[in-house]
Amino acid sequence: MYFSDLFPRLPMTVDEYSKWRQQLWKQRGPNVATPTYGELLPCYKDALDRCRAVPPAEDSAYLRSVAAATASAQAMRAAESPMDYHARAVTSPNPLPAAPPYRPASSVQLPPRPATRQTLIDEMLRGVAAGAEEPFYVVDLNAATERLALWRALLPDVEPFYAAKCNGDPALLLTLAHAGLGFDCASASEIRTALQLGVPASRLLYANPIKQPSHLRYAAESGVNLTVFDGADELHKLAKVHPGCALLLRIAVDDSGAQCILSNKYGAPLSDVAQLLATAEELGLHVAGVSFHVGSGSSSGDAFKDAVARAAAVFELAAKNGHPMSILDVGGGFPGVDSPEVSFRTMADALRSALQKHFPKERGVRVIAEPGRFFASPTHTLAASVIGKKIVQLRADEGAATGNATGNAEGDSRYDAAAEGSLAVTAERINYYINDGLYGSFNCVLYDHATPEVNVLPTPGETTAAVDEPPTAADDAPLACVWGPTCDGIDCVISDAKLPPLQVGSWLYFPDMGAYTACAGSNFNGMDLPNIVYLQARGNDRTPKPPDEAAAAMLAQLAEEGVTPAPELK
Ligand SMILES: Cc1ncc(COP(=O)(O)O)c(C=O)c1O
Repeated sequence: MYFSDLFPRLPMTVDEYSKWRQQLWKQRGPNVATPTYGELLPCYKDALDRCRAVPPAEDSAYLRSVAAATASAQAMRAAESPMDYHARAVTSPNPLPAAPPYRPASSVQLPPRPATRQTLIDEMLRGVAAGAEEPFYVVDLNAATERLALWRALLPDVEPFYAAKCNGDPALLLTLAHAGLGFDCASASEIRTALQLGVPASRLLYANPIKQPSHLRYAAESGVNLTVFDGADELHKLAKVHPGCALLLRIAVDDSGAQCILSNKYGAPLSDVAQLLATAEELGLHVAGVSFHVGSGSSSGDAFKDAVARAAAVFELAAKNGHPMSILDVGGGFPGVDSPEVSFRTMADALRSALQKHFPKERGVRVIAEPGRFFASPTHTLAASVIGKKIVQLRADEGAATGNATGNAEGDSRYDAAAEGSLAVTAERINYYINDGLYGSFNCVLYDHATPEVNVLPTPGETTAAVDEPPTAADDAPLACVWGPTCDGIDCVISDAKLPPLQVGSWLYFPDMGAYTACAGSNFNGMDLPNIVYLQARGNDRTPKPPDEAAAAMLAQLAEEGVTPAPELK
């Protein structure tokens, strides 16, 4: 078991990561329980080592199953009308109201259906047929509206403020704004974008507990009057720069079961609360409520139960001190995609019952949330093409062939120099190089601890894997290593993918890539972030466009359909 070692391997599952964090927590305490960059590097080394342990290729049975799956997928595609999704285009006739009321479940119509996997595949194939060579996203805005309907069904009394940091695609923001959502903004730039899209300042929450003074000034000038704090110095800053702002006190909660922890950096311990409330009072600031975040990609409803109980204790203390509170912000942490371990329904049930216990409706507390990945994850499907491949021969003394993630990850030349001729070749590994990587969309592997699902796009004339589920190769199928396009040895997307034989020019696709992906990607090595094609966009030109161009065209289309920025804020 690698958890008995100091460093687990990467990419790791949520469960594995949380176990590692709990181990670090025990060893070093909560404030330093996040793995450091130095600790992550050996994890990558381990991942690279595993790449070299790939068994030799034995592919005939596997290829037969791939061919059968491809034939059935092609039959399914032929049966579906190629343009069916146009019928599900965004067609809302009303302009964005200045301050749309939050609409609970009962007043909401059924949302447009999100695209099927097959429709997404068709769109990607159309992009490829139109000549796409760069990586691109297919964006399905209906997936976000469907998530909203689910939210409103299961958490009807919790107002979502979408966390724009998760994916700031303007068409996605406008779609959510039009549906009446508020936004959790982390900076002046996110506030500006939301305002430009017509979201009234009253629907914005500046949810960054530590704010750059110039950004806070911009919030004050823009009329954004709700923010979060977790320390005395921030209170002094607020008193100077934005004294009229209503405040939420962010408390630390148990986030040890989350994919990404946050309480190591933010959140006041309960023991500090009394003093912070007293300081706010001295400074003449209004603390309107409490906020918390159970960690992004939380794995259990229990974290919400515990956090709501803590928040209730703070409400009680404030009331005792003569300053009753009126807002509870339950943060984010909701799953982007359900898994066997965690589902939105279970989490929402746990949260609802905790709210019912501590904040029953009669109490009149306004409950808001800051979900990010819940809305964004299913909206984006990424297509990337194989730009190169290489077969690497592994020798008996595999240890000698290992490099490290700091620059000599391949390590092959070092190995050859030391051992050529003296060790037998025992296995082969297939390296596929694709045109998006760890420095682009797949930064989520590193920062978000994500494990992307890889699929082969069944482009005509190729032998490909099943199209409607992840490739499940036979046990003896060769493992492949999927690398990104930069020259860095750390740029490994998936170290042990089960893939059929691919050619340069084959395409892979990765579903549910909408959360914490391109927004944190870079142009390292001069690689552009992926282009975009919106599934709901009209017209015959399906060539994926650069993000700005695609978004501008989609915004124009949404405006034509009545989803417009509020006129007074243009
Ligand atoms: C303050 C704050 N709110 C909301 C979110 C969104 O969280 P999630 O995507 O898990 O819903 C984050 C994510 O880091 C955050 O830091």
